[in-house]
This record gives sequence, C-alpha cells and structure tokens, in this order.
Amino acid sequence: MQRSEAVLQSISNIAALVLAAGKGTRMHSPHPKVLQRLLGEPMLWYVYSALAPLFSQQVHTVVGFGADAVRKAFPHMESRFVLQEQQLGTGHALQTAWPAIKVTGAAYVLVVNGDTPLLPSDVLTAFMRNVLDSDVDVAFMSITPAGPNSFGRVVRGAYGRVKAIVEAKDFDPEVHGSDTGEVNAGIYLLRLAAIEPLLAKLTNTNKSGEYYITDLVDLAVASGLHVLAHECGDCAALMGINSPAELVAAEDALAARLTKDWLAQGVMLRNPAQVRIGPGVTLQPGCEIQGPCELYGTTTVAAGARVESHCVLRNAAVDQNAVIRNFSHLENAQVGPGCMVGPYARLRPGAKLETGSHVGNFVELKNAVLGEGAKANHLTYLGDAEVGAGSNIGAGTITCNYDGTHKHRTTIGKKAFVGSNTALVAPIALGDGVLVAAGSTLTQDVPQNSLAIARSRQTVKPRRSEGSS
Ligand code: UD1
Ligand code: CA
Repeated sequence: MQRSEAVLQSISNIAALVLAAGKGTRMHSPHPKVLQRLLGEPMLWYVYSALAPLFSQQVHTVVGFGADAVRKAFPHMESRFVLQEQQLGTGHALQTAWPAIKVTGAAYVLVVNGDTPLLPSDVLTAFMRNVLDSDVDVAFMSITPAGPNSFGRVVRGAYGRVKAIVEAKDFDPEVHGSDTGEVNAGIYLLRLAAIEPLLAKLTNTNKSGEYYITDLVDLAVASGLHVLAHECGDCAALMGINSPAELVAAEDALAARLTKDWLAQGVMLRNPAQVRIGPGVTLQPGCEIQGPCELYGTTTVAAGARVESHCVLRNAAVDQNAVIRNFSHLENAQVGPGCMVGPYARLRPGAKLETGSHVGNFVELKNAVLGEGAKANHLTYLGDAEVGAGSNIGAGTITCNYDGTHKHRTTIGKKAFVGSNTALVAPIALGDGVLVAAGSTLTQDVPQNSLAIARSRQTVKPRRSEGSS
C-alpha cells in the first residue's frame, strides 16, 4: 500500500474545514453567500457533497454572517459549526476554528472556501495524495483561468519555487514580478504542527485590512517549511463564486453537464437547454422531460413517465407511465403509476395520487390522498382529505378544511360522486357510494349509498310585466 493511501484511508489524520462566514458583499444580497442556490441547492450543499465521500465525520464549518440561517439549512451538521463573530478575514476564520480542529487530533487540515461549489471529489483526492506523498507542510491548489479574475496571485521565485500568494488588490508587478495568470483556488492542506506557530503571526496590514489565510504561504517559506502549489490548470470547477454573474455561469455549466449525463443515460430530454435538473434528482432511463421545465430536490421520475413543459417539481415522485401535463407544480407530492396530472395542476406537500387517478386543470391538493382511479378533473381544492378509489369529484368542489384556527379532515369513501360546486365543511365523512347533489354545502356526515342534497329549492315565478312600476 502506498503511503498516501494509508493516510487517506485513515481519515482521522485529516480534518476538513469549510470557510463560510463571509457575507459575500459582491453578491449584493441580504442572504449569506453560501446559501445562494445553484439548481435548487445551496452552494454549501455542493461543498459538503464533495467532502462527504472523503470526510464522513470531521467536516467543520466556520459560520458568521447569517450563521443561524446557515445552521438551519444543515441541521445534521449542528455540532460542527464554529462561530466567527466578526468576519476579519479568511486567516482569522482559520484562527477561530483552530481549537476545534486541534481537538480532532488530526495531523492535517483540509481548508476549503465555501464559495467553490463545483469542486469535484476526485480533484480533492488527487490533491491530498500529492501532498501526503511529498511530505508537505503547506499546500494549496492553483489554477490558471482563461479570463480575467480577481483571485490571489501565485508569486514564484528562483527555480519556480512558490514564494507567496498576493491578493489581486495588493499585487504590484514592480514588487511581485509579472502576473503569470496562476492564481490560488482557495483550497489548502495544512500540517497542524507546522502551521500552529505561524497562525499568530498573521497581520491585517493589506488593502482590505483583513487577516488573510494566504499569508501563511510566505510565512511558511520564510520559516523554511515545505510549500507546494498543486497545479490544476484551467479548471473551471475550482473557480470561486463572488458575484451573481459568476453564480449563473457556474449554474449554467452545471446544468449543461447534468443534462448531457441524463441524455447519455437514456433519459429523453427535449429542448435540453431549457431543462433544469437539480443534482439530487433521479430519472429512470425511458422517462421523458420536455423543456422548459424545472426538477429539483429529491424528485424522481420513473421509466415511461412524461413531464411536459413549464412544470416545476420539487421533491416529487412520479411513478411509471404517469403524465404530468403542462404548467403543473408539484412539491413533496407522490404521483402513482399511470396517473394523469394537469395541465395547470398544483400538488402541494402531502398530495398522494394512487394508481391511475386523475387531477385536472386548476385543481389543488394539499395533504390529500386520491384513491386508485379517482378523478378530480376541474377547479377543485382538496386539503387534508382522503378520497376513496373510483370516486369522482365534480368541478368546483372545495374541502373547507380551515376554521380560522384549526385544520380538519374530509374523508370520502369509494365510488362516491360529488356534484359540481360542492362545499364540504370539515370535519366531515362521506361513505362509500354517496351521491352529493351539485351546489350543496355539506356540514354533516353522509352514510354510505345515500344521496345528500343541501341547497335551497329553486322557485320559478312569473316576471313582472315590462313597463309596470
Ligand atoms: C480568497 C483568497 C484568494 C483566492 C480566492 C479563491 C484570501 C485572502 N484570498 O479570496 O487568494 O484566489 O479565495 O476563490 O483568502 N470567509 C470567512 N470569514 C471571513 C472571510 C471569508 O469564513 O472573515 C469565507 C467566505 O465565506 C468564503 C471564503 O472564506 O467562503 C473566501 O472568502 P472570500 O471573501 O470569497 O475570498 P476571496 O476574496 O474570493
Ligand atoms: Ca471568494
């Protein structure tokens, strides 16, 4: 076994630290930058996904600006957050997290900027292998992006040896030599024992007045430590995101990659440039998605199912041969095999359609089950409701589930027929085979196989003759 493999396998040797306390001023948003979303998931979600296969237990995160919101977005990480009350720079973030990292007993710490969401796990692995094989004290990943950028400049001296990282705004060619285009990707592997004495030496005498983690490089060089820049070339996946323009560029690149992968796996994506598929979505080969369309969260679409254009699905499960017609919105909803949904349907959390049931236009379901083969085809609200197999819910049926304080349930048995424009004032139960006359407002239970009619009887009277007063 190679030395690096031994080290990587023994993950207790490397702790992981994500820097996520900054406001992200250049995003111009009141929300923390690391919670800005790409394809429906926050930036930090991607960083954790890249780290998860390598560091199941040891990921620590420095939070500060919007700390509560960040904590709330990742509740399972609770014990690993470190609060940086004032955001005095990336070096100060590392200083703040240092005691928590030391307690892990790790020999190294991998530090990752929280605004680098596309970083791939295998690139991280290659970086760590390289560093551990060559017994380095301070290592960082460098990239040479094609376009202009504001990243920290890598300054090299004799024999190409790394001397320092100089932030773009502090960079002066007269002092630091010409700009080679090689910049810092913001991902570091640091040997704790070597770095500890240098941490206290960080200063904030620079144009930003911040403590820079990058200053550890020239401090390490000055102390005779072994410093390495792991060169990744023009690796767009390692570009940090600092502005809305950079975010949407990264999102577009990710979307293009994902749609290409799904097509290659046998998913029919029509108009693929306008299909947005989140990284946690599962599509079975043989399903069909028509753009423009958005699928996010843990959405699944089974073989033979079709999602038509202008639909938005979040955490929805669409079973085999179901059809989601145009302009439908599904969230935390389940659609059984062979169901028909939409056009213009809204399935809210807890909506469950059993095999072969139909939901038509302008029908909203929330926390409601539509039994096998049941139909609610037009202009209906079913909330906190259960509809038995084979029932028909007429146009304009409303479950009145909310009394202003509490929610109440409606249950409708099998093979019931609810006439159009019916209001069902919950709590209420309709038995199997019930027929409700159109226009009824029901406030009481109806036993099975009965007809319920609750509306005033029509009267027809002669009109007053025209011209009379
Ligand atoms: C940083 C690097 C730069 C590198 C670039 C790569 C420094 C000084 N510069 O610049 O060399 O090219 O990343 O993307 O590190 N953060 C904290 N606490 C703070 C300040 C920042 O946790 O007090 C976090 C931020 O939330 C962010 C990360 O650290 O996730 C990087 O901060 P940012 O301000 O984006 O640094 P850059 O200017 O991009
Ligand atoms: Ca950044």
